[in-house]
Amino acid sequence: MKKNILIADDLIRDYTQIYSKHFKIDTLWNIKGKKINFSKYDALVASGLFKITPLLMKNLKNIKIISLFAVGYDNVDLVECKKRKITVSNTPGVLTRDVADLALTLLLSISRNIVNGQSYIKSNLWQKNGPMKLTDSVFNKKIGIVGLGKIGKEFAKKAESLSMEINYFGPRKKKSKYKYFKNLNQMAKYVDYLVITCAGGEKTKKLISKSVITSMKKSSYLINVSRGTVIDEKALINSLKNNKIKGAALDVFFNEPKINPIFKKLNNVILHPHHGSGTIETRNAMAQLSCMNLINFFKKGKPLHKVI
Ligand code: GLV
Repeated sequence: MKKNILIADDLIRDYTQIYSKHFKIDTLWNIKGKKINFSKYDALVASGLFKITPLLMKNLKNIKIISLFAVGYDNVDLVECKKRKITVSNTPGVLTRDVADLALTLLLSISRNIVNGQSYIKSNLWQKNGPMKLTDSVFNKKIGIVGLGKIGKEFAKKAESLSMEINYFGPRKKKSKYKYFKNLNQMAKYVDYLVITCAGGEKTKKLISKSVITSMKKSSYLINVSRGTVIDEKALINSLKNNKIKGAALDVFFNEPKINPIFKKLNNVILHPHHGSGTIETRNAMAQLSCMNLINFFKKGKPLHKVI
């Protein structure tokens, strides 16, 4: 008999047919408001953006696995899953290049003032005021990567091709040709770009603290493709407002998609709607992999990529 799978969120809407070839599926957006017996589900599929509430977990009495359509798993209560012997799987690898590409896109775009450049033309300022103010070269500049994991390494490789100097911070020194900083404040003081690629969750909550942000140079930029929770946003906004740093390019925010409205008023930011893996190719690969995780779990007792 086919297993019953609940697909939780909209992000997976275009890929439901991948799962329905192997499983009996329901989608949360279709059953909303209906009287549903949640205890029939054997598995939950959810993206990294979906808030898996304690109530949903309580209702899903019989799930054996949460198959994440994401690499990050900070939206899952791992303690509860361990207690209930629920396996959690994710989709690492397939999204590495696109997320690293987005980090590089953000870095180049904020440095060359691409978004304001477009507004400059659209609001006729080019015609009225002449050339736009000068922007920043990236070559020979220093990058500090926070979290040299898969995405951090891929990003470093790409940034190297732009003749940028790579440094990194993390809980431990890695076998790497890049310079390691044990002290995040010192790295923040040293670099021109602080690029956040670490995992989210409790361990990295507000890792980019007020003291890290105030250590950054006035001419420096902050790029975040990790999670909004990693940054003390109040401190960041304060620095941006008072031009204590030159700018920030952010793909992720605290409390998405209802982000702090002050971000929308700033001119020295690029805001992007959590879309690092948001390409047709990668989202398709994530759906295939998250489905394979389910197939392997139900056939062999183990998903391809196990978190716990
Ligand atoms: C996206 O943010 C992911 O964790 O895959």
